[in-house]
Amino acid sequence: MTALELLTRDYLGNFAFRWLHVLAGITWIGLLYYFNFVQVPALAAYGDEGKARNMAINQIARRALWWFRWASVATLVTGILITGLVKGYFKDFMSADNGNGIGHNVAISIGMVLGITMAANVWMVIWKNQKVVLANAVNVLDGKEADPNAAGSGRKALLASRQNMVFSVSMLFFMIGAGHFYSGAFESATSSNAWTFFIIAIVIAAILEINCLGLIGGPKAGNKMLWPYESHKNAIITSFVLWLILWLASEILLA
Ligand code: HEM
Repeated sequence: MTALELLTRDYLGNFAFRWLHVLAGITWIGLLYYFNFVQVPALAAYGDEGKARNMAINQIARRALWWFRWASVATLVTGILITGLVKGYFKDFMSADNGNGIGHNVAISIGMVLGITMAANVWMVIWKNQKVVLANAVNVLDGKEADPNAAGSGRKALLASRQNMVFSVSMLFFMIGAGHFYSGAFESATSSNAWTFFIIAIVIAAILEINCLGLIGGPKAGNKMLWPYESHKNAIITSFVLWLILWLASEILLA
């Protein structure tokens, strides 16, 4: 191995970017949990039009959203850099012969798909809609008329945020599991076992994602399909049910 390969694989890929990745990841997911468990219930307690609520949105949510969305970018970029700098990371990916093992490969693939979907939700749904909510809070504080679309935008952001909360439990399990629980396990699993498990996991995640976007029955309250997102308690239950299904599927399909 050349000195350059050693530097990129061991010091940048395996050490620096892995460490920065976990730091960025906890910042992102920590703020996701703050939004879900603290800010949303607290703002709901202020009522719909209260001045205190709009001030909190303008001063607190605006700052929290800045750190939240840039931490998601830092997590995504450092995660992808790990795969880019560790030579041969994707070589013969779903095969036992690439040095990492099938268990590791399928686990990190699922973790990455969930993480990338979550990052897309942050920028394409949550931030897009929160910009409307933030602008409305400033307008109302300035004595201008409230935007009638603000409540609908807030609802769309909330659904995606609770879906990210649901994905986060399984995402982190497979992210850490790749190097620790799945690595070296399931040595008799074949490439087709791994693909079957991967495709089942992706189909379940895609159905949940389509649902949180309100594409099955609309985003309004009263749509029973949106039960997982109607409270943070429901989202916590759903996140562990999803994790249980995926974990059992891995045990059954890869064994
Ligand atoms: C956004 C998309 C993400 C991508 C593309 C990504 C990618 C990766 C990659 C490639 C690895 C290395 C796995 C290996 O050892 O081969 C990894 C590990 C890890 N990631 Fe992510 N990740 C993402 C999101 C997250 C998030 C949101 C967190 C939350 C904290 C996170 C936490 C971790 C942890 C804890 C490890 C394990 C480090 C270790 O045990 O060595 N990742 N990730």
